[in-house]
Amino acid sequence: MTDAPIIRRAKESDILTVCRLEALIFSSPWSRESLRAALSDGYVFVVAEQSGNTAGYAILDERVKDEAELLRIAVSPGLRGKGYARALMEYLIEHERGRGGKIMLEVRASNEAAINLYKSCGFCFSGVRRGYYRLPTEDALLMAYAPEGAQ
Ligand SMILES: CC(C)(COP(=O)(O)OP(=O)(O)OC[C@H]1O[C@@H](n2cnc3c(N)ncnc32)[C@H](O)[C@@H]1OP(=O)(O)O)[C@@H](O)C(=O)NCCC(=O)NCCS
Repeated sequence: MTDAPIIRRAKESDILTVCRLEALIFSSPWSRESLRAALSDGYVFVVAEQSGNTAGYAILDERVKDEAELLRIAVSPGLRGKGYARALMEYLIEHERGRGGKIMLEVRASNEAAINLYKSCGFCFSGVRRGYYRLPTEDALLMAYAPEGAQ
């Protein structure tokens, strides 16, 4: 990465781009309406911007007190391996540290890139949900991050 990306809260004008990335990246993409709903209170929806372009995004659900859930993190296929996901995760962890809560997530058992990302950000394995994912059917690994002082 040449310059550090700007990590900022998503806006209505980001929805179309994120919607396109969803369709490109995920087998069960979120709809425009679901993405729009994540702009509301109770979610932390952030984008990584580089030279005015959206490189990636992440969505954290913090409606439950003391236990946020990472719902989405993705980086544009041509821009991977440049530290954008790490920058997004660091923003979310710092944000959650301020609230003193945990971050939970589920990840496909075969998703080595995401698992390595989470491990390198301090997440630990906390369980497994057999056959949780569809298209294709696969186990979900549960991972958790607890900032210092969280129960
Ligand atoms: C997972 C994903 C978000 C990583 O984004 P990225 O911007 O390429 O990741 P970064 O460049 O910030 O890498 C951070 C760390 O992740 C891990 N990682 C990233 N890509 C990896 C790969 N292809 N293989 C193994 N580990 C990888 C490494 O630990 C890396 O740290 P390092 O560079 O010091 O080795 C990206 O691959 C992606 O969008 N995948 C599809 C969507 C997805 O699976 N999302 C997660 C489930 S919701």
